[in-house]
Amino acid sequence: MTTPAAEAARRRTFAIISHPDAGKTTLTEKFLLYGGALSGGAGAVKARGDRRSATSDWMEMEQQRGISITSTVLQFPYRDCVVNLLDTPGHRDFSEDTYRVLAAADAAVMVLDAAKGIEPQTLKLFEVVKARQMPLITFINKWDRPGYEALELLDEIEQKIGVVAAPVTWPVGIAGDFRGVVDRRSGDFIRFTRTARGATEAPEEVVSPERAEAEEGQTWLTARDEVELLGTMGLDHDDELFLGGEMSPTFFGSALTNFGVRLLLDAVIDLAPAPSARPDIDGAVRDLGAPFSGFAFKVQANMDKSHRDRIAFLRVNSGTFERGMVVTHADTGKPFATKYAHSVNGADRETVDLAYPGDVVGLVNATDVRVGDTLWFESPVTFPRIPSFAPEYFSVARVRDTGRFKQFRKGIAQLDEEGVVQVLRDPDTGDQAPVLAAVGPMQFDVAVHRLENEFGAPVELSPTTYSVARRTDAASAAALRSMRGVDVLGKADGTLIALFESVYWLDRLVADQPELTLESLVAGDQAG
Ligand code: G4P
Repeated sequence: MTTPAAEAARRRTFAIISHPDAGKTTLTEKFLLYGGALSGGAGAVKARGDRRSATSDWMEMEQQRGISITSTVLQFPYRDCVVNLLDTPGHRDFSEDTYRVLAAADAAVMVLDAAKGIEPQTLKLFEVVKARQMPLITFINKWDRPGYEALELLDEIEQKIGVVAAPVTWPVGIAGDFRGVVDRRSGDFIRFTRTARGATEAPEEVVSPERAEAEEGQTWLTARDEVELLGTMGLDHDDELFLGGEMSPTFFGSALTNFGVRLLLDAVIDLAPAPSARPDIDGAVRDLGAPFSGFAFKVQANMDKSHRDRIAFLRVNSGTFERGMVVTHADTGKPFATKYAHSVNGADRETVDLAYPGDVVGLVNATDVRVGDTLWFESPVTFPRIPSFAPEYFSVARVRDTGRFKQFRKGIAQLDEEGVVQVLRDPDTGDQAPVLAAVGPMQFDVAVHRLENEFGAPVELSPTTYSVARRTDAASAAALRSMRGVDVLGKADGTLIALFESVYWLDRLVADQPELTLESLVAGDQAG
């Protein structure tokens, strides 16, 4: 009989992060191909047009825009392991849901376009990974096309995100004539062969250095010299630095032609950590073998219009989840029967009967469960909430047709609970004109779209003069309300948020009146 610890040991739970168009969708599909979850053969990997609607995108808006807004979880077997790939929203702006997904992952794979490097808009995302000290594996994609020099890219990663990029493989052949990679661990040349449309695994041949020199000539010698240089630069893999988020093992490849995909997936298995026991809010560790526990990292309503439901996605932290077990919602103490538990791959749902640490379970109709909440079985535990970010974008929302106010109100409350946007209210005007606050402006687009299409409440957003927010308390709120350039609004849970027109003004206030409570929201939002 298997145990939760044994099952955890063979799991790898990670997320892919990238700038849009760097190749995340393509790489995800290639992982599925190598995991055997997509059968080989012509036509198995869907043409791009179909792919948009067929794989992990299901929201209407995503299909219209061709972007992935909602995250999905893909589970597939690889070697003797079970891989859980958490999909992060692929849009341009950083948003809070990406951060929440990372809280449920044990490692991240960063995909960069070799011709673009690290692009400014996604820098914040990578900084978050760095701040979380998450193990990060880098895949430099599109090596089949002209791009930056490999060394330049390594340097950029170190300069911009402060993580040392240590190549595990090194490209052989210039961009446009990509022949394979040197595996620095063995010194061998791994030669790739293209297949039609990349629909099947790219054949790989392991070639000894001697043969590589004879067959590839100068191309091989150049790569070999560069690899020697890497050694003198100290760019060798160090497990401790990797696990602490200081060093990123780096791979070169081309997701489109499957070059380097297997080596990358092998690295996820061999290098990325398996789920380990997580600490609770008091710092006590919940053993993997303890009874079931997990926390919600995402709540999503109306994923499927024909279902009209609400799913809470839970990462399992300990024990064995068995469908049908009655678990306790730590925040309310209420029991919750897990009769309808699913694993959700895009729009496809499968009932999940068993899940282990590192796995993700979707609980249908978990009405009270909010992002960050814990559920447990038999022995109580509460995990730390997921820190939230100080919003940087603010808009006032008003319903266009006052006859739809009820729908507007319901929609706003739902989006708030899901964490699509933060909803801040003035005690005087209440729900008439709430302020929507976000980390990235795309969150507003999603909110507006969903209010109109799901709740039948078209809204108008108008700009505000706010530029920065801080959490405060009742005592400080009284003082702040009397000042100019500051407003204090409340969240549904009673948390008070001070909004400032100017960062400069906030800085001055912090310096002049240190007794005021003005906390950056990033530091762990226990209020939820
Ligand atoms: P994303 O999810 O990160 O947004 O990226 P996605 O996989 O959708 O890839 C974006 C574009 O980059 C796609 O081209 C895709 O085919 C291409 N691409 C991905 N990996 C590679 C690679 O290794 N080499 C090259 N040369 N291109 C790659 P598209 O024009 O948008 O679509 P399509 O018509 O080519 O399918």
